[in-house]
Amino acid sequence: MQNFISLEQIDSVAQTIRKQISIQPIVGIILGSGLNGLADSVQNAVYIPYGDLPNFPVSTVHGHAGRFVIGELEGKPVFVMQGRIHYYEGYTMGQVTLPVRVMQRLGIPSMIVTNAAGGVHPDFEPGDVMLITDQLNLMGMSGLNPLMGPNLDEIGPRFPDMSQPYDRAYCDLARKVAKESGLTLREGIYAGLSGPSFESPADLRFLRLAGADAVGMSTVPEVIIARHGDMRVLGLSGVSNKANLDGSTITTHEEVIEAGKVITPKVEKIIRGVLRGL
Ligand code: HPA
Repeated sequence: MQNFISLEQIDSVAQTIRKQISIQPIVGIILGSGLNGLADSVQNAVYIPYGDLPNFPVSTVHGHAGRFVIGELEGKPVFVMQGRIHYYEGYTMGQVTLPVRVMQRLGIPSMIVTNAAGGVHPDFEPGDVMLITDQLNLMGMSGLNPLMGPNLDEIGPRFPDMSQPYDRAYCDLARKVAKESGLTLREGIYAGLSGPSFESPADLRFLRLAGADAVGMSTVPEVIIARHGDMRVLGLSGVSNKANLDGSTITTHEEVIEAGKVITPKVEKIIRGVLRGL
């Protein structure tokens, strides 16, 4: 049985954080596997380990630090999640998306979400960065929508629109930043699966037929929750490996972390440029 998160639980986390910070963040940033390094460049940072927060899930995955870093990037007040919580760790969808609810209760209007993903588009190579223009909610289609359970009417409607999960103006801004920085920015649709097993060749051929360009184990639930509360979202996938549609190579978590080293500086450039443009 799902354990749904109440507004009181969300607010107790938000209030604990509020007491420790003196700025009003304008953007929440979620860092994906292997991309945690970005949080180290936050200035005037306040660090809040997840373990210090009431009823807060702690990330168990190697490559995920597990704390909020609140401070400034490019002079803009940011609320960075260094290490995310994944459904495959055994948490409920409510726990996985609690950080986004906390952002909403802290009055943060925008979110930048990043992830490591397998490149399903045949042209994508490890190290590429993909602007997420839309998403396939495969978890939700099989009954794992994070909005199931009592609706939090104070935050958003029972049946929220999902016609623009990724903000078009933010997409344009990211394209402009990439162009100005001389970075190749791929674009496409991110398919969210629960993991933790990587996909079989048949899974991958199915995903490609369904229109996916990248596949990963996160992001989609967080974006649904963000849009429920009307946050504007920018999404970036770092392509850590080529999805192998014919089963001739294997995929490992080590490869994902290793590719993060190439991807992090590119993602950082785009995020910094976007922050400057906000
Ligand atoms: N599949 C799913 N999730 C991933 C992958 C992948 O190939 N690479 C990084 N995260």
